[in-house]
Amino acid sequence: MTETLICPPLRLGERIVVDPPVVLAPLAGITNVAFRRLCREYGAGLYISEMITSRALVEGNPKTMQLISFAADETPRSIQLYGVDPAVVGQAVRLIVERDLADHVDLNFGCPVPKVTRRGGGSALPWRINLFDDIVRAAVTAAAGQVPVSVKMRLGVDADHLTYSEAALRAQDAGVAYLALHGRTAADFYGGQADWQPIAELAELLDIPVLGNGDIWEASDAIRMVAETGCAGVVVGRGCLGRPWLFADLAAAFQGRPSTALPGLAEVVRAMYRHAELLCEWLGSERGVVDFRKHVAWYLKGFSVGSEHRRALAMASSLADLAELLGQLDQSQPFPAEILGQPRGRTTGARKVALPDGWLADRESRQVPFGAELADSGG
Ligand SMILES: Cc1cc2nc3c(=O)[nH]c(=O)nc-3n(C[C@H](O)[C@H](O)[C@H](O)COP(=O)(O)O)c2cc1C
Repeated sequence: MTETLICPPLRLGERIVVDPPVVLAPLAGITNVAFRRLCREYGAGLYISEMITSRALVEGNPKTMQLISFAADETPRSIQLYGVDPAVVGQAVRLIVERDLADHVDLNFGCPVPKVTRRGGGSALPWRINLFDDIVRAAVTAAAGQVPVSVKMRLGVDADHLTYSEAALRAQDAGVAYLALHGRTAADFYGGQADWQPIAELAELLDIPVLGNGDIWEASDAIRMVAETGCAGVVVGRGCLGRPWLFADLAAAFQGRPSTALPGLAEVVRAMYRHAELLCEWLGSERGVVDFRKHVAWYLKGFSVGSEHRRALAMASSLADLAELLGQLDQSQPFPAEILGQPRGRTTGARKVALPDGWLADRESRQVPFGAELADSGG
């Protein structure tokens, strides 16, 4: 049987080939070494760490050092950095290269959280186009051709203050390997529907690969995004919450094969336990099981499981506890097909973006915003 290749593999630098061109989006508190490994067990692609604060990395913050753990067989190792100071971002990338901490660095310019934008960080930053340029150039220079650097951004601050075209061109000039665009502004937060049209515009405008991000809930959405925008690959975030097998579907879809069978509850239970087990390997048995709690509702969405049982699962305090509670479920249930294509995770929307005083009036300033760097990573 011949397979139809939807998109050629994505090449990053000399050594990295991402095939299919599918990227697990950085998700703070989620895309740690355990979840990335689980997703890798189902599919293929590039799996990015949760966001790591450049300053915390430079200072050797213990939580941050734990967050940049990789499995021995994880390749390529990909770290997402967040930073607002070109000097610090440069230092962080230099450290990554010198200590061989990762094979790829992604830069976060998409964070819409008020405590960050209020100080000029995250998705507020590309508005200060020269500062954005300085940060991206500092990262690419420090990477010294050893590690490809990519940029992930939103459309802009709000509909009246879009930044994506200019920032993308600057990032391309600075030498980034690809540009990932989430089709929402900071003001959109996670609400409404992502606008894929700007992804198509950038794919036309840039010579480097453009990856599309926003509202890919099923593999068919990914294929539709490629068809509608001409993007070179996709970045998938919330769609994989409680559904690591989405990466198997994506791999099949990018090879032009039909999606794999939907997992019944027995298989979902196996994935849940495996996820908890991997978290325990990474964090220790107590913290691992506690960290797993937030995933329970996502895995069980649409299955017939009583509210008390769900609550008990979300409060399990040991792997044995979890195994016993999972064992009590009616595992003959098929996958609830009615939830396919439905949003999951954060979906709250439209708000006024908190910005520093005078931020929008001055596009040219290169001044590093004060206090916009998070003390530690994730979150
Ligand atoms: C819980 C959560 C955590 C996130 N953490 C990060 C992050 O650390 N870095 C980042 O660039 N984006 C982060 N994002 C944004 C996602 O990477 C992605 O751009 C967004 O969810 C849109 O894609 P999706 O519709 O496929 O979810 C986060 C989103 C969520 C819901």
